Amino acid sequence: MSTLTLPPLPGLVPCARQLVVPIVEQTRLARDTYRLRLASPELANAVVPGQFFMVRPPGQTDPLLGRPFALYDVWLDASGEPGGIDLVYLVVGKMTGVMRTWQAGESVEIWGPLGNGFPLLTCDKLLIVAGGIGNTPFPAVLREALGLHRYGTEAGLDHGPRHVARPLAPADITLCYGVRSAEFLAGVDHFESLGIDLKLATDDGSRGHKGFVTQPAEEWLKTHTATPAAGRTGPKLAVYCCGPEPMMHAVARLAAKYQAPCWLSLESPMACGFGACFSCVTKVKQPDGDWDYRRTCVEGPIFPAEVLDL
Ligand SMILES: Cc1cc2nc3c(=O)[nH]c(=O)nc-3n(C[C@H](O)[C@H](O)[C@H](O)COP(=O)(O)OP(=O)(O)OC[C@H]3O[C@@H](n4cnc5c(N)ncnc54)[C@H](O)[C@@H]3O)c2cc1C
Ligand code: FES
Repeated sequence: MSTLTLPPLPGLVPCARQLVVPIVEQTRLARDTYRLRLASPELANAVVPGQFFMVRPPGQTDPLLGRPFALYDVWLDASGEPGGIDLVYLVVGKMTGVMRTWQAGESVEIWGPLGNGFPLLTCDKLLIVAGGIGNTPFPAVLREALGLHRYGTEAGLDHGPRHVARPLAPADITLCYGVRSAEFLAGVDHFESLGIDLKLATDDGSRGHKGFVTQPAEEWLKTHTATPAAGRTGPKLAVYCCGPEPMMHAVARLAAKYQAPCWLSLESPMACGFGACFSCVTKVKQPDGDWDYRRTCVEGPIFPAEVLDL
């Protein structure tokens, strides 16, 4: 199995490269949900939590456009060195339907890492709110927050090697993870093994809290902040969120109500992934009260909630 380097991407994303890389394994994690393990030490050393990759079948025109997938995590080889990346996807349509058929030993065309990634943590307590397949950016976020892995170590990256100066203790991280029903829960054993405070929610009550994941999230915000009117005192908080748009809007409103800084990872549909086509724009507030468009693939996908025109 070998890696093939394709022509460079336009200069909009200097750290990204376009490769054809081998599939190491494909594993079912939950209903319609699979983990694709790809061999590529260079992508593994370059990527940081919250960044994403564009993926497509190599040498084919159907599907023509790549699709974006968040870094799930970096995997280590037998000697403990980064061997490649894991992506986790939910089968929803054409590309993900094709991806489900891929086997170990086949190859994938991939370009990345793309996007900005989550900011380096400087908080005392972290609340993560994940809805559905929106849980995928968080294994890497958690590993970094707990000080278990250093990302972006490749020389010459724009952002330089990332280093969390004060890793958090597992008890300082709460993950509220909601899905339609228990059969869609992916990676729960892994989240539990980290020892973090895990609060599950399902729409049908088949596991965890019955109802929206925003309910346990609001409980957490109530507990960790002063009353909204009085302003916030106490530990420095951060809220990271990814999931369906209505859920992210609700989390952004809650974070604003409890005055907790909040970052959203947007899942806007994308065509190129590197800033050329403007298919992924989102409205962003300007300091003068006006608004403008920003490309989710280059200026995002992570945005502070307060700048988004939600
Ligand atoms: C930065 C980023 C990271 C992402 N990370 C992941 C990930 O880690 N795992 C994962 O499974 N998915 C992720 N997605 C979403 C993923 O890209 C889409 O689900 C994928 O493009 C679907 O491709 P498809 O050809 O299978 O579906 P299509 O045939 O293109 O579409 C099938 C259906 O899904 C809808 N759809 C497609 N894309 C989206 C979207 N972004 N939001 C809402 N509805 C959509 C379409 O409107 C259509 O109804 C991410 C998206 C972005 C922008
Ligand atoms: S997907 Fe083409 S500019 Fe963002």
